[in-house]
Amino acid sequence: MIHSFIFSPSGTTAKVAKTFINSLGSEAKTYDFTVKESDNIDIISDSDIAVFAMPVYAGRIPALAAKRLNAVSGTGQKAVVIVVYGNCDYDDALLELGDIVTERGFRVIAAGAFIAQHCIFPKVATGRPDAGDEKKLSAFADEVNHIIAVGGSLDLNSIKGNRPYKKGAVVPMHPDVDKQKCNSCGSCASQCPTGAIDMQNPKLTDGKKCMMCCRCINMCPSDARHLGGLLYKVAGWKFVKDNSRRLEPEWFV
Ligand SMILES: Cc1cc2nc3c(=O)[nH]c(=O)nc-3n(C[C@H](O)[C@H](O)[C@H](O)COP(=O)(O)O)c2cc1C
Repeated sequence: MIHSFIFSPSGTTAKVAKTFINSLGSEAKTYDFTVKESDNIDIISDSDIAVFAMPVYAGRIPALAAKRLNAVSGTGQKAVVIVVYGNCDYDDALLELGDIVTERGFRVIAAGAFIAQHCIFPKVATGRPDAGDEKKLSAFADEVNHIIAVGGSLDLNSIKGNRPYKKGAVVPMHPDVDKQKCNSCGSCASQCPTGAIDMQNPKLTDGKKCMMCCRCINMCPSDARHLGGLLYKVAGWKFVKDNSRRLEPEWFV
């Protein structure tokens, strides 16, 4: 049995994790930590495998995701850690996730960094994960199944990244609301991972709480939330130009 722990505001990390787990071919239970901690986590038996999948924010695991992982603990069960990033760099995020999961009592057997469409600048890695990524996820799953069969642990120091980890950073923007299109249905507010959107008046966003995860843009049934403004356009032009080469998944076993 696989227990997967996911944080995926714009859905790509969940997609990568699902493809990987399907390739592993075992029965799976998923706990989604995106909006809140999962409160009914089953006891993980010694023969179960835990899969932890998180996106990369500024080269790190999102601080909120790391905090929510405090709800999970193991007693030496095997774990696979996966990070998903937007074709720029994953810096220290995979190493950080390996360290967190080890601290939570699991034994990391494999770690992988996969690429997805950038949620802030969707012209970067558009459409990924794609068929090429799916093949790599399947190859990674084959290697993981082999390790599960023959045994073994991963030396965390073999994962790309440095300790101390790079300093986290925030993106100084938040999605705008088109007041004509917004009908205050509240989907965005109820789905915001940080509670940054006012429940009574969803047209209001607390810029200090918003982590720019773009979930509200993806969730809005009226297409009323979007990124725009001069800073976004100017930064985006350079960002897309600098990050348009195709990076490939990497893994460590
Ligand atoms: C605040 C923020 C910071 C990000 N930082 C990075 C980064 O350092 N490197 C990168 O390649 N992608 C970065 N991304 C892009 C995400 O890692 C990428 O879009 C990922 O697929 C999002 O996962 P999700 O769809 O599960 O939310 C960042 C996205 C956000 C919202």
